[in-house]
Amino acid sequence: MAARVGLLSRLPLCTRRSQILRPIHRLLSCPGTAAADARRERQPSGSTETGSEERTPKKRFSEVQKERREQAQRTILILCPNKTSEKKFLKYLSQHGPINNHFFFESFGLYAVVEFCQKESVASLQNLTRTPSMGTEAAIPFRSRFFNLKLKNSSDQTSEQPYMPRCNQSPPSSKKLFELLCDAESIDDQLNTLLKEFQLTEENTKLRYLTCSLIEDIAAAYFPGCAVRPFGSSVNSFGKLGCDLDMFLALDEIGNFNAHKTSGNFLMEFQVKNVPSERIATQKILSVIGECLDNFGPGCVGVQKILNARCPLVRFSHQASGFQCDLTTNNRIALKSSELLYIYGTLDSRVRAMVFSIRCWARAHSLTSSIPGAWITNFSLTMMVIFFLQRRSPPILPTLDYLKTLADAEDKCIIEGHNCTFISDLNRIEPSKNTEPLELLLKEFFEFFGNFAFNKNSINIRQGREQNKPESSPLHIQNPFETSLNISKNVSQSQLQKFVDLARESAWILHQEEKDHPSPSSNQPWGLAALLLPSIAKSTSHGKKKRKKPASERIKNLLESIKSPENSTNTNGKRTVNTQA
Ligand code: GTP
Ligand code: MG
Repeated sequence: MAARVGLLSRLPLCTRRSQILRPIHRLLSCPGTAAADARRERQPSGSTETGSEERTPKKRFSEVQKERREQAQRTILILCPNKTSEKKFLKYLSQHGPINNHFFFESFGLYAVVEFCQKESVASLQNLTRTPSMGTEAAIPFRSRFFNLKLKNSSDQTSEQPYMPRCNQSPPSSKKLFELLCDAESIDDQLNTLLKEFQLTEENTKLRYLTCSLIEDIAAAYFPGCAVRPFGSSVNSFGKLGCDLDMFLALDEIGNFNAHKTSGNFLMEFQVKNVPSERIATQKILSVIGECLDNFGPGCVGVQKILNARCPLVRFSHQASGFQCDLTTNNRIALKSSELLYIYGTLDSRVRAMVFSIRCWARAHSLTSSIPGAWITNFSLTMMVIFFLQRRSPPILPTLDYLKTLADAEDKCIIEGHNCTFISDLNRIEPSKNTEPLELLLKEFFEFFGNFAFNKNSINIRQGREQNKPESSPLHIQNPFETSLNISKNVSQSQLQKFVDLARESAWILHQEEKDHPSPSSNQPWGLAALLLPSIAKSTSHGKKKRKKPASERIKNLLESIKSPENSTNTNGKRTVNTQA
């Protein structure tokens, strides 16, 4: 570890335990609303809990979605002048009805998110809102829930409150993260700290649902009764501050009632246009929504219509929220995947701590990227962590097949011929008896995948055990619902090898630390912080200093030294580590 250079040497390590300034979240009381519930439910995610944690009732995914969606429909977004007086601002808006909750944030200007207690207040405000006159430019009148607040008399506002607390919407810088990690008390504490710093805040989650709701208003101009629903990491409990906002336009809810329930001899159907295929219908719908967002969507910029992709989408930036948005249509399987991940992420607090740390580790080593390519995705990494936790003894997570056996009639779900049935009530799933600490799990994760027979085995969370690979892709992770598909088909052999090398190196670092017991006051990054630094192999090969033993050799020695009886051995008694496809 002494060979570590670069970022590390620039950091003031082991600083005083830093005070994390929490954004002040002001709340005006409005009893019985979802916001009041959400406040009560906010979890102290920094605690080191294990599978035996106290069982508080947990909400179903569909309940959370419904509440958040309803909350978003009562919420507005306002661009405010910097000089706004919070008190006067709230008093002004309260004319339209009681406010349940509000917060401010900065993103190319000062924005306020205001949640009314009743939906009618939004309409009341809209009725008193004018379309701006633009001088030489022309404004396209659009009655949305995204407003500009103008001051009639600016001198009037300044005196009372020069600075309003803003909610932070970004993750900590690498420097800050290193300081926090080096300041932690244990590796378990480090993993929980990373989770706490990176997880989506209550405010950021609200902003995500609000953004979907604003896009829904635009889409509803074409498709009354449609819904725009978030999916992916914004809702599956693995979202990190700054992650993209995946959403889909749900049109299958329009006119989708049970025809048997209508009385009489007649049945009414809407007159519709037919097109040759589902894909063409999707492309046409997304094309028109893309145009609409581009031409009339307040705050929607950089709209790209990516209609020839395997899964056609419209990509755009929502300037005010700062979210990079991907809009698709009728993506019900992806929503089901999000629900499954939400269940796994909510069942045991170690799951999210592990997933966040592994994702962060992968990003630090450029194993993942925001650009599509031959690298592992965050979605695949999450599946790998879930699989690993299913393989512990006793298992920390149940298999998907087991979750299917617990399902009741109302959980039954078949989408496009794929059985997506599993239990939705988390409270009926027995907690794990496994109490292994995060430190052990992290080390074992790296050993597990540093030695996984990727050449012949597939990762399968449905059965919770390795399967023979049905095809020759270097990395095979079975899609849990469309079981003939591989979610990591894009990953190249060299990217997989890089993952394996880094996993082995990380296992080695943690093992060395266990032996050497570095003192937290030794000014060296340790534990998770050490794992996030550039690889030894990479830094020494570029450095001019005299080389120590090559990393690969040290790792090989380590792997041999920690081999256990159940590991496969070759005729020399050496462990075989096979990653060739
Ligand atoms: P972030 O990196 O934080 O955005 O994670 P994410 O889970 O949101 O991933 P991403 O934005 O790439 O994809 C959004 C969702 O689409 C995922 O959560 C999955 O539900 C689904 N998805 C992504 N990639 C695949 C894939 O290769 N196969 C399938 N079946 N679904 C995928
Ligand atoms: Mg995403």
